Amino acid sequence: METATEAAGSAAAASATTPARVALVGVHGFGTHHLRNLQRLQAAGSVSLVAVADPQPPAPGALPPSAAIYQGLEELLTATRDLDLVIVATPIQTHAPLALAALATDAELYLEKPPVASLADFNRLCTAAARSGHGVQIGFQSLGSHALGAIEELLAAGTIGTLEGISATGRWVRDRAYYTRSRWAGKRSINGVDVVDGVATNPLAHAVATALRIAGARTTADLASVETELYRANDIESDDTSVIRIRTASGLPITCALTICAAESVEPYVTLQGSAGTAVFHYTEDRLTVETAAGRTEETFGRDDLAENLLAHRGHGVPLTSSLADSGAFMLVLEAIRTAPPPAPIDPACVRWEGEGDAAHAVVVGIEEALERAGRQHATFSEIGLPWAVAAPVAFDIPAS
Ligand SMILES: NC(=O)c1ccc[n+]([C@@H]2O[C@H](COP(=O)([O-])OP(=O)(O)OC[C@H]3O[C@@H](n4cnc5c(N)ncnc54)[C@H](O)[C@@H]3O)[C@@H](O)[C@H]2O)c1
Repeated sequence: METATEAAGSAAAASATTPARVALVGVHGFGTHHLRNLQRLQAAGSVSLVAVADPQPPAPGALPPSAAIYQGLEELLTATRDLDLVIVATPIQTHAPLALAALATDAELYLEKPPVASLADFNRLCTAAARSGHGVQIGFQSLGSHALGAIEELLAAGTIGTLEGISATGRWVRDRAYYTRSRWAGKRSINGVDVVDGVATNPLAHAVATALRIAGARTTADLASVETELYRANDIESDDTSVIRIRTASGLPITCALTICAAESVEPYVTLQGSAGTAVFHYTEDRLTVETAAGRTEETFGRDDLAENLLAHRGHGVPLTSSLADSGAFMLVLEAIRTAPPPAPIDPACVRWEGEGDAAHAVVVGIEEALERAGRQHATFSEIGLPWAVAAPVAFDIPAS
């Protein structure tokens, strides 16, 4: 007869060899990235994509034959048993109801960023997650970078001296087609439902999340203040060019200066401002550059895949890399943006349009230098006196946790 230890051993062996049953909600857009990743994991034998849900059917041949197709998550969950993992990669305003439905099953949840579109929904989701006992991973994939461990080590070793501040700089290009691709693009809300699709909460959200993680700010208790100064060059509701100034509970300033109205896209970066040097982390490339009196070094790191990390959490209790609770500090930033006055339009005289038709994109004149100064000086665009910066920083009242 099998002993308890042997039984536990064979159960572990079985779970190590049985592919995790996965469902993907949202197969187009960023869902295609998850499909590719799931195909990789399925080929390695660690997952089986058993079902997908999307009102727009997937392209023929886009799914492995194992996957059933449903119009929505409700139908999928009615027809599918024993899921280990549900991945939600749908528009922001759908995250809360879909995440709550997924948490009512026995599966772990991978929820794309930003987690949800309001702090109230975040609190609701945290309660549901705690009740379910299941892991919720938020799709801030830059947090899986091994460079973050190297940054912790260099800070502990005093390589750049004392950490005095952090800046996050993002300058991307998004054309008109980006805003016409879906009805929620560039919206603050749709029919009273929050969307909060702004530069700091969607395209460059990783810059904010990565800066917060480096500062050690994870939960809502880790921030002392958040100020926003939001602008837009595009004809949209939400902001496309903004400064977010944060102070952590331990007093560290973090300034995020972000635009999707640059002349050219440059990979975004987080700068650690030390008393004896700087470290610059290009998080999309896992590249870390350190500059001190001793010289300049550059190293590129690997990264852990967040879906694999979540499966390891389910299987063996491995800590989550980007847990829902640890997105609390980010959610305070999102709430500050959600509740701020609408972004100030940038004077068209200070905006240049490049390209034609749907490929045309706005360029805020001189934005590159403005972002650098804002980050370096922890100042907003109005504080550095830019001609178009007619708004003022808005302080967010952080709710008591
Ligand atoms: N982690 C990243 O780097 C990254 C990058 C891009 C987008 N995202 C996030 O991914 C999510 C999706 O963004 P997108 O630009 O791909 O959006 P999208 O508008 O292209 O929609 C993605 C898919 O979701 C489907 N969908 C819409 N409502 C649905 C519902 N109720 N149930 C099932 N499917 C539904 C759409 O038909 C579409 O196929 C957003 O949260 C976005 O912020 C993350």
